[in-house]
Amino acid sequence: MLRALLLALAMPLAAHADPMILRGINLGNALETPHEGQWGVVLQAGYFPIIRQAGFDTIRVPIDWEDHAGPAPDYIIDPEFFKRIDWVVTNAKDNQLNTVLDYHTDPGLLKEPDQYADRFVAIWKQIAEHYQHEPDEVLFELLNEPHDPLTAEKWNALIPRALAVIRPTNLTRTVVVGPVQWNSFNRLPDLQLPAGDPHLLVTFHYYLPMEFTHQGASWIGRESQKWLGTKWAGTNAQKAVMAHDFNAARDWAKAHHRPLFLGEFGSYSTGDMPSRARWTACCARTAENLGIGWSYWEFCSGFGAYDPKAEAWRQPLLEALVPTRSK
Ligand code: BGC
Repeated sequence: MLRALLLALAMPLAAHADPMILRGINLGNALETPHEGQWGVVLQAGYFPIIRQAGFDTIRVPIDWEDHAGPAPDYIIDPEFFKRIDWVVTNAKDNQLNTVLDYHTDPGLLKEPDQYADRFVAIWKQIAEHYQHEPDEVLFELLNEPHDPLTAEKWNALIPRALAVIRPTNLTRTVVVGPVQWNSFNRLPDLQLPAGDPHLLVTFHYYLPMEFTHQGASWIGRESQKWLGTKWAGTNAQKAVMAHDFNAARDWAKAHHRPLFLGEFGSYSTGDMPSRARWTACCARTAENLGIGWSYWEFCSGFGAYDPKAEAWRQPLLEALVPTRSK
């Protein structure tokens, strides 16, 4: 019922697009590291049915391809690493989950785009060839959160180069692509996509206000310590800001006839749980009401909706994401 409703809502966005993704979750802090487990998460076969049974239909899998590719042309991807990603795809399929294979990290490309563009394209050619026979439920995401010095101009030039090595083997594969400034919704106007490619799903990430979602997050810098204790009460004014931001993304998508995907949103465990649950529910419902599929950041680490030690969902977050009444 809900799926049908959301499909109907999403239809006007892009007649050609089947918004397969309604509710997803990121399997973060596992495979986007040089060695799985380095950031405390090793994926388990048991996670896939747990995610499916909780009501999610999609996993987004952040992947560090670049560290698993050879140092020189043709930048051959380690076959053992491919096997590990194959295992993820197989488990997802066995549990009726869509899989977004997200090219998550490439410090070289982000710092020196001109120097590392060829490697990025060479890696994508291999990923595309390797997964060409997978069903439509496997999606490719070109690059997580491009940002300066990978400017909009450079990113817009790189997108068609990557698609040029993907399309020969994956003509109709959905490819996820987002704007610069860490996939910020307000940089959507700078995103230029090949008009002739109807199989693109546009993504944006949402972590506003940062003072709430990233309070105490060391990787943001020292000022995040000052944010500790920030609550999110969900006042009308706060909800209006979120609605305004999501509407801006939706308006861009409508005008450009592209479907939209909120690929990351979430709050760090240092926030208080009632605020986190309120903010999470507000993001998820606001997106759903606009026909935007989403995937929460993330499953079982610092932002985790699931507690791997207790082997249980953090109920307020799960209820915020997949309300019992909608199951
Ligand atoms: C990064 C994570 C980070 C998250 C929220 C992701 O894109 O890869 O390391 O925790 O955003 O900041």
